[in-house]
Amino acid sequence: MTLTPSPTTSAAPTTTTLVHPPRTGRTEWWRHAVIYQVYPRSFADGDGDGIGDLPGVTSRLDHLARLGVDAIWLSPFYRSPQHDAGYDVADYRDVDPLFGTLEDFDAMLARAHGLGIRVIVDLVPNHTSADHEWFQAALAAAPESPERARYIFRDGTGPGGSQPPNNWTSVFGGAAWTRVTEPDGTAGQWYLHLFDTSQPDLDWRNPEVRTEFEAVLRFWLDRGVDGFRVDVAHGMVKEDGLPDWDGTSSMIDGAHEGIAGSEDGSTGAGNAGPMWDQEGVHDIYRAWHTVLAEYDGDRALVAEAWVEPLSRLARYVRPDEMHQAFNFSFLTTLWRAPDLRTVVNASLVASDEVGAPTTWVLSNHDVVRHASRLGLEVPGSKPNGIGAADPQPDEALGLRRARAATLLMLALPGSAYLYQGEELGLPEHTTLDDEERQDPAWWRSGYTERGRDGCRVPLPWASGEPGLGFSASGRTWLSQPDSFSRYALDTQRGVAGSTYEVYRSALRLRREFRLGTGSLAWVDGLPSSAESSVLAFVNRDVLVVTNFGPDLLRLPADLQLLHASQDLPLADDDAVLVPADTTVWARLT
Ligand code: NOJ
Repeated sequence: MTLTPSPTTSAAPTTTTLVHPPRTGRTEWWRHAVIYQVYPRSFADGDGDGIGDLPGVTSRLDHLARLGVDAIWLSPFYRSPQHDAGYDVADYRDVDPLFGTLEDFDAMLARAHGLGIRVIVDLVPNHTSADHEWFQAALAAAPESPERARYIFRDGTGPGGSQPPNNWTSVFGGAAWTRVTEPDGTAGQWYLHLFDTSQPDLDWRNPEVRTEFEAVLRFWLDRGVDGFRVDVAHGMVKEDGLPDWDGTSSMIDGAHEGIAGSEDGSTGAGNAGPMWDQEGVHDIYRAWHTVLAEYDGDRALVAEAWVEPLSRLARYVRPDEMHQAFNFSFLTTLWRAPDLRTVVNASLVASDEVGAPTTWVLSNHDVVRHASRLGLEVPGSKPNGIGAADPQPDEALGLRRARAATLLMLALPGSAYLYQGEELGLPEHTTLDDEERQDPAWWRSGYTERGRDGCRVPLPWASGEPGLGFSASGRTWLSQPDSFSRYALDTQRGVAGSTYEVYRSALRLRREFRLGTGSLAWVDGLPSSAESSVLAFVNRDVLVVTNFGPDLLRLPADLQLLHASQDLPLADDDAVLVPADTTVWARLT
């Protein structure tokens, strides 16, 4: 394909290179869906206790239908003591009273389906809560008992077994082992927890664990869910013998933090070590694939696997395993055109190799919101939380880049994930009072990593109302920053150029031009003083251009402007001008 540049704007011919062909024939919904993450505690509160819940979700589904998403993914709402905001599940078959009841879940699901929105739920199989009946039974039972064999209990080392079985550390900081007191009162064995002490790891070599989770899958599939987001999908099987490892793992910083970049263009989205990405995990997903295939409606599994390079991640989405995997390499790439080109390219190539769709994601409940990350001195870097004493992001610049990044992302072929509130342009709460913090990473890191509370603040729905409309009582489980009233939905709905309306138009056009099942061909040679500051590609017949600045970019004529992340300056002819940190979608005519 060759773009014909306007003779007045460029001497060099524009060239294109096809990377990913369009998809034809029957296409499963998850190959191109826009999936919106609902973090139930912070979405909408139906009962006034200041914590969001399932009736709250149901009451706001109209908003999501109007926005134009295809599906929602709900973070955990199961019975849980909430030591890790519900990622510590005590009963996989029940709803925590904080969030409502099973009937509330059914009502939410029915309403979502009625609006044409599919529903994915979170499955947390790497660990249970310490309150789970299995773990309580394990504590009451003897070493080597079947009850203990569901978890990873080991004798300690050193005199009297007083040292942990190996040197592994928890993702949240501190040791990954905790010693138990045996029922007779003596100091006893140790159990493994890759996360908080309240999250003991299951032993996935035990067939009883496998059988139980297949039953849990069926429980929710029978209720009608459309799929599962699988938590810590790369961690469920540990290397034989649990060998020592001197590295550290962090879901947020990645094992390769820094801006040097890894081979896929990102700043490091992977965890190495004997607890991650072991071959044995793939058997589990093959078995689950078979379970889902028994059900109609293209039910899907999405892997939360912090694995790199992308060719390694692609192994989770081979034809008989999961359907999608989050693309954290994309999320962890800096705001630089060459790096983004590398990661987009590598993502498409790796997933095409196995016939899977690529996913794209910029924000979720574990990372600083992209509207703030992109306003940092190194735009796109990913601190583990931001506190009041830390360097503060440039809010306006961050939002401008976030909108450009989102339009770039939503024009890519594949499936895209949005995190609640990003459609409002919400920044991270970067000045949250440390006293309010609830993320276990804050205290487990010895109060050095502020953690993830800043991206989990309750949503602002209505600017003039107490709690900004999150809860009828005005209560919010984390306080909202003053700036949130400017971002409330009611200040943006119907307002041309608002972030919400930019997202909404993008989703409509993405659907209309079938970009999700489309193609990608890089465009080179657009007139620019610095080639490396432009990313341009064609998907079907839409040209997508992001200008990383600082110079104004003038696009060839004969384009029909479809969408832009910002108001564009007017040219004295009908050319399209793209300012810094802006993405434009234009139709090739
Ligand atoms: C990943 C989840 O997204 C995160 O929120 C949680 O803390 C860990 N897994 C442990 O379940």
